[in-house]
Amino acid sequence: MIPASEKPGPWPARLDLLQSLSGLLLGLFILLHLLFDASILLGKDAMWTVTRFFEGYFIFGHALPWLVSLFVASIFALFVLHAWLALRKFPTQWRQHRIYWAHMGAMRHEDTTFWFVQVMTGFGMFFLGPVHLYLMLTHPEQIGPYASADRVWSGVMWPLYLLLLWLVVLHGGIGLYRLAVKWGDYSDPAKARRKLKWMSRALMVFFLALGMLTLAAYLKIGIEHAPNVGEPYVPSLKGVS
Ligand code: HEM
Repeated sequence: MIPASEKPGPWPARLDLLQSLSGLLLGLFILLHLLFDASILLGKDAMWTVTRFFEGYFIFGHALPWLVSLFVASIFALFVLHAWLALRKFPTQWRQHRIYWAHMGAMRHEDTTFWFVQVMTGFGMFFLGPVHLYLMLTHPEQIGPYASADRVWSGVMWPLYLLLLWLVVLHGGIGLYRLAVKWGDYSDPAKARRKLKWMSRALMVFFLALGMLTLAAYLKIGIEHAPNVGEPYVPSLKGVS
């Protein structure tokens, strides 16, 4: 029997639940983010409308970019919380890494490999995510068809976005799969696992393709707009200015 003084208490389980919840919220956020971001594929006016919507333009009659900053700040806080909670499970010593590598090689078990991919993609996002979030936090007024495309091309953000896209889609896709396996209650777990794996793969392929197309659209606009970098977009929609 474990002596009372060595019992872990309720906190590890609570922190585990908090990690799952923060991950679920971030995962759902990123799916919506990539969909809204893809509005550029429907045209500059569509992306302009989405941007102004989040600035409260259609409610208050004028844009309030600080509303976006407020939202970014809460996503940033969630991102930091999630990363801090995940750090508890990082293999921190070289010996732990060696054991894990050996274990992964011997097992050839996909779910074990998944966990490792999640650790590595999470590690990459730890550095790249804050660069993007800080820009969004401090310059929320510079989001729009031209402003975003200028940042992607003339601001040379595209390499970072390309890398971040792969990291976040792999991390989020595997993360949502692992959440469903961990917390779901299935009558046939092996069958459920196969189905969930298939669904998470389809989700990742879809969002990677959508994200790459979106980035290509920003690159095209950014290259064409480079001679007039900094000039804001004026919508061609009727009734708005
Ligand atoms: C509320 C917080 C966020 C806002 C307002 C936001 C906004 C944007 C905007 C406007 C773009 C288009 C490019 C640009 O204007 O520079 C973009 C692209 C992108 N964002 Fe975010 N973002 C947020 C959080 C995040 C987070 C947490 C991640 C991942 C860690 C992320 C990953 C990306 C990626 C990968 C792209 C490039 C997507 C593509 O074009 O394929 N964003 N974001």
